[in-house]
Amino acid sequence: MPNRISLSPTLEEKLLSAKKVVILSGAGVSAESGISTFRDKGGLWEKFKPEDLATPAAFQRNPKLVWEWYAYRRKKIQSVKPNPAHVAIARMEKIFPEFLLVTQNVDNLHQKAGSKKLVELHGNINRNKCFSCEKISSNFKPDSKTVPPLCPCGGYLRPDVVWFGELLPENALELAQRASLEAELFFSVGTSALVYPAASLPFLAKEAGAFVVEINTGETEISPAVDELLLGKAGETLPVIVEFLKRNGKK
Ligand code: OAD
Repeated sequence: MPNRISLSPTLEEKLLSAKKVVILSGAGVSAESGISTFRDKGGLWEKFKPEDLATPAAFQRNPKLVWEWYAYRRKKIQSVKPNPAHVAIARMEKIFPEFLLVTQNVDNLHQKAGSKKLVELHGNINRNKCFSCEKISSNFKPDSKTVPPLCPCGGYLRPDVVWFGELLPENALELAQRASLEAELFFSVGTSALVYPAASLPFLAKEAGAFVVEINTGETEISPAVDELLLGKAGETLPVIVEFLKRNGKK
């Protein structure tokens, strides 16, 4: 039986008045679609070591292993669908005049649910780029005899995701920071808020005056600092917010 979700009067007032809204999303948003998170019990980083699979050095040591791990994750991701949390976020984009979704997720489920105003902070698992020349490549042959497939320049292709020790895409981070600084309402949803610089965005927003709401199944590092903590599943909580907005004429 899901918990009853109740929004505070202040949050209700902010939802009705805010024009500039930012949502930071993390792996918890895709959990109800059947995608493992990283740090929960049974999460990916409990079963696998990031230093073996998600660093440039790991790829240099064993490109085949890294490519195959991402191929396994791609297959899983392609077999699942967006859940009510993704759908509610895509809906919120249409309701608020200035909206930005900042996602740490690489699974493309927000895009599948219809989100358009989004920045991918950690890349997208559906794209590849060359480990040598860094060109984004979409025309590799998945049945290629080489694992990983090769870029026309001769380098190995790798997934276009951000690995530990790598910088985030500069434009994406800049857009996310600017929107967070201007936000009136900021949601941190389904993220442990442990990975920086993404985890700095709720603080940036808060210091600049935003009302910060966290939606998570448990408390996180940022919980003591947020204005409102909605404990519960993203796929149950976000639809309640959208329903409230609709009931109050925001469509
Ligand atoms: P984590 O696995 O660190 O955190 C997932 C969060 O989602 C936890 O705080 C859970 O409590 C919460 N959660 C789980 N199920 C939920 C649900 N149904 N509804 C709401 N919350 C739920 O994932 P991220 O914070 O996204 O980076 O991790 C950040 C980055 O660390 C990832 O982008 C990835 C990883 O290493 C890279 O690969 C660069």
